[in-house]
Amino acid sequence: MSSHSNLDTLYRQVIMDHYKNPRNRGELEDQTLHVNMNNPTCGDRIQLQLKVEDDKISDARFVGEGCSISLSSASMMTEIVKEKSVDDALELADIFSKMMLGQEYDDEKYDLGDIEALQGVTKFPARIKCATLAWKAMEKGLDEEEDN
Ligand code: FES
Repeated sequence: MSSHSNLDTLYRQVIMDHYKNPRNRGELEDQTLHVNMNNPTCGDRIQLQLKVEDDKISDARFVGEGCSISLSSASMMTEIVKEKSVDDALELADIFSKMMLGQEYDDEKYDLGDIEALQGVTKFPARIKCATLAWKAMEKGLDEEEDN
């Protein structure tokens, strides 16, 4: 097996692990905001629930349905934004969007961890909307929060 396919296998395992054992799936009782977001190409939808206090995301959960890519991405996103400032979370969303577009992104400022397993999605353009669903919800919620 080439090292490239080894990496593909590892990435697939990371994605399936988040899909089967999603982190932060469920209702957040003391949420300060929630955002519904649907993927128009398939109709799947998730609701992201955040607790934002003093410009910091102290908790994040999600509910909803989707494919393995969308739900694993939601799991990873809610994991990384917890305890981050709103600005850091928005910067992470920008990094993730660049990753999905196959553009250069800063991989040093944050420990992206499992998120890098989603890099392979760039090879399947139809799935990019699946991967970005939860991130778009987070950006929308935080943008609206900042406008208030
Ligand atoms: Fe619906 Fe991926 S197929 S979110």
